[in-house]
Amino acid sequence: MRRTVIRSTGRYLPERIVTNEDLTDMMDTSDEWIVQRTGIKQRHWVPDEGVATSDLALEASKIALKRAGWNSEDLDLIVFATLSPDMHMPGAGCILQHKLGTKPIPALDIRQQCTGFIHGLEIAHAYSMGGLAKKILVVGAEVQSKIFDLTTRGRDMAVIFADGAGVACVESVDNDKNIGLLSSVLHANGEFAENLMIEAPASRLKKYALCEQWIQELRHFPSMDGRAVFKFAINKLPEVAREALNKAGMTLDEIDLIIPHQANLRINQALEKKLELAPGKIFNNIERYGNTTAGTIPIALDEAIEMGKVDTTKDTIMFIGLGAGYTWGASIYRFG
Ligand code: ACO
Repeated sequence: MRRTVIRSTGRYLPERIVTNEDLTDMMDTSDEWIVQRTGIKQRHWVPDEGVATSDLALEASKIALKRAGWNSEDLDLIVFATLSPDMHMPGAGCILQHKLGTKPIPALDIRQQCTGFIHGLEIAHAYSMGGLAKKILVVGAEVQSKIFDLTTRGRDMAVIFADGAGVACVESVDNDKNIGLLSSVLHANGEFAENLMIEAPASRLKKYALCEQWIQELRHFPSMDGRAVFKFAINKLPEVAREALNKAGMTLDEIDLIIPHQANLRINQALEKKLELAPGKIFNNIERYGNTTAGTIPIALDEAIEMGKVDTTKDTIMFIGLGAGYTWGASIYRFG
């Protein structure tokens, strides 16, 4: 039977580490506030100029491709999840395609933000099951340090979001064992789009291009109703976890590790409590990386494997997340 399996992973974080203490030089904040509200102690930022999202993705891709024993010419498809593409158009997938030197394969950009990687896996699965692609690169990457207002005005978000890339080499294989992507449940509800958004430039405004007025009104900076996002997340995440388990015909006991989106440590702690998880069953690394949006889940997967927290010969894991849109979802994946 055809299965969709993760052959390898890779991650790349820019070298520059920015601690909470470093942020206090830029804005009125404190290590105590940030740690208490988010769990973040440090994050990685790209240098001010010359490094774009596709550059981080390229480094992570090289690692993943090498581990899979693949050449870039072997690839049939790139799915690139990001909210911070190198340029407004074309998509970062096309830029990565060129940098990797693949054949002229399709390169999709997807805009599902924090659930980008979960959506990317499901798209890869659809191509795999449809016989449309065999070797697929699923990327989640962001450069967000250049997007946020790094002053006291923007401190509610600037302290949370960060830069980084994670990649999975995903393959369509024939295998009789019940392995690979077992189930995915994905949702969206645009009613709450304005709770977490970057409004400009935008076609709904009078002028699409960034103009002085939008800049003065700060519409080009991200905005978030943090409390609304928090409430929605802690309600929906346990629900979608159960939906994904039901769809796979499984129980929580059969999951070895949950790898959630790293939005905020408190959200993941609430999920842990609501699902009554045993200690160590949920993986968090937000403390060191901040929230890298589409990058969080593949970065965490790569790190969890490296730390020996995932047995890639047999473990079953759940990916889960919620983000702008809102979009939310969960998938269950079994190594083997
Ligand atoms: N440093 C110091 N003080 C700050 C900071 C900061 N970085 N940011 C905000 N404050 C201040 C506010 O100005 C406010 O001050 P005031 O009481 O004088 O008005 C005070 O701290 C409390 O602000 P709130 O926004 O009410 O803080 P809250 O306790 O809600 O925490 C947070 C904010 C962490 C964003 C919280 O709402 C939350 O956890 N939201 C969940 C959403 C989330 O995690 N989003 C990020 C990821 S989005 C995603 O990936 C899906």
